[in-house]
Amino acid sequence: MLFTLETLFLRGYMRIFKFVTAKLPIVWPQEFIGAGAIQELLRHIQSQGFTRVFVVTDHNLVNAGVVAPVLAELDALKLSYSVYDTIQPDTPAEQIEAGLLAFVNSGAEAVLAIGGGSVIDAAKLIAARALNPKPVLKLAGLFKVRKGIQPLFVIPTTAGTGSEVTIAAVVSDTAAQRKLAVIDPRLIPSAMALDAQIMLGLPPAITAATGMDALTHAIEAFVSKNATAETDVRALNAAKRIFKYLPEAFHNGSNEQARQQMAEASKLAGQAFTIAGVGYVHAIAHNLGARYHLPHGLANAIVMPHVLSASLPQAAPRLAKLAQHCSIHTSAKAEGANDMEQAKALIEKIKEMNKEFAIPTYVEALQPGDIAAISKAARAEARFTYAVPRYFTHAQMQMVLHGMLKPTG
Ligand SMILES: NC(=O)c1ccc[n+]([C@@H]2O[C@H](COP(=O)([O-])OP(=O)(O)OC[C@H]3O[C@@H](n4cnc5c(N)ncnc54)[C@H](O)[C@@H]3O)[C@@H](O)[C@H]2O)c1
Ligand SMILES: [Fe+2]
Repeated sequence: MLFTLETLFLRGYMRIFKFVTAKLPIVWPQEFIGAGAIQELLRHIQSQGFTRVFVVTDHNLVNAGVVAPVLAELDALKLSYSVYDTIQPDTPAEQIEAGLLAFVNSGAEAVLAIGGGSVIDAAKLIAARALNPKPVLKLAGLFKVRKGIQPLFVIPTTAGTGSEVTIAAVVSDTAAQRKLAVIDPRLIPSAMALDAQIMLGLPPAITAATGMDALTHAIEAFVSKNATAETDVRALNAAKRIFKYLPEAFHNGSNEQARQQMAEASKLAGQAFTIAGVGYVHAIAHNLGARYHLPHGLANAIVMPHVLSASLPQAAPRLAKLAQHCSIHTSAKAEGANDMEQAKALIEKIKEMNKEFAIPTYVEALQPGDIAAISKAARAEARFTYAVPRYFTHAQMQMVLHGMLKPTG
């Protein structure tokens, strides 16, 4: 097999990166899982001696009636709170800085996030900014949250990002049309509650997109060169549950079992990618999101089959293993199907799910004239952070992106 000099260099660098990642002081949050988990989390906050919490959420969730029951529980426990509910998807840096001011003025001792990945990430960054005197955009990159974060508790309302367990938080630099990641083990929350009850009203389109985000985490972690035995167990477990339960959660949102399975799968996938990393699907999706305001999960869902197909020359054996674990068989006979056939069957399955969820095969807003810049930015994002199974040259990456243009005629 022929490798370019760049690929050889990056493979060597990634070996060192894997060694460093394995030594990260990762402390997973305390978990409260299943029916009653939210009350248990709130009682846990109280038992830690906190008397006032800063609730971070968004308008949609307040209007959908998702936040009020949690506030009622806080009242019942005589925990006082202030609510900061102006978070927008892919939170702009300005909202973090404004949130910091509101946090300081509130006199709260801890932060409680009630929301999807955007809210959780915003809460992580407000908690980080409270102790780190640098503008949030200066915290972007690896290990810059040196002074730690204020105590942070999380109630996810989507099953997708896994942000309740990850070392990452995303913030938008709107002027530069960029989404930046702050990555530091100190961003991991203290405790979190995974309770399907709070996800029952999540609309089908968001259920599908966020669920496909979780699937992308599981698959990219599994094919990553930085995967470990531990991340493999979590990634496989997550992928199997997502293939089984996401269609049900999409079609029948009030199915509590499907919602709970998705919440736990999303957490497992988050733990897997915290150590193994993600890949080009995310690198491209982040750039599409920043440029065209495409929701993160939707972008991943569209991009994933394109990137996996282009990665087949190196990723087929791992994709085949994942397909086998999830009982995804080739349309011919499963017995004796080779790795390439099984890997392709997995990609077909992802395409079928996208179709079932009315997710397109292309990116409506993508402009041919933007492809070179997106390719450059996606390759730069991945270069020193994602241990992808196959490195794409600029030409290969552009070809992958061309495949995502809206078909003409
Ligand atoms: N920190 C990480 O590790 C990590 C990982 C992946 C993605 N992300 C980031 O997370 C963000 C995306 O998060 P997301 O996909 O969870 O979506 P989101 O948080 O942006 O929410 C999407 C929409 O769904 C609504 N919503 C959420 N829960 C609901 C509920 N239960 N009922 C009704 N409406 C509900 C929200 O109000 C919002 O309008 C992106 O910025 C992405 O880059 C972070
Ligand atoms: Fe993601």
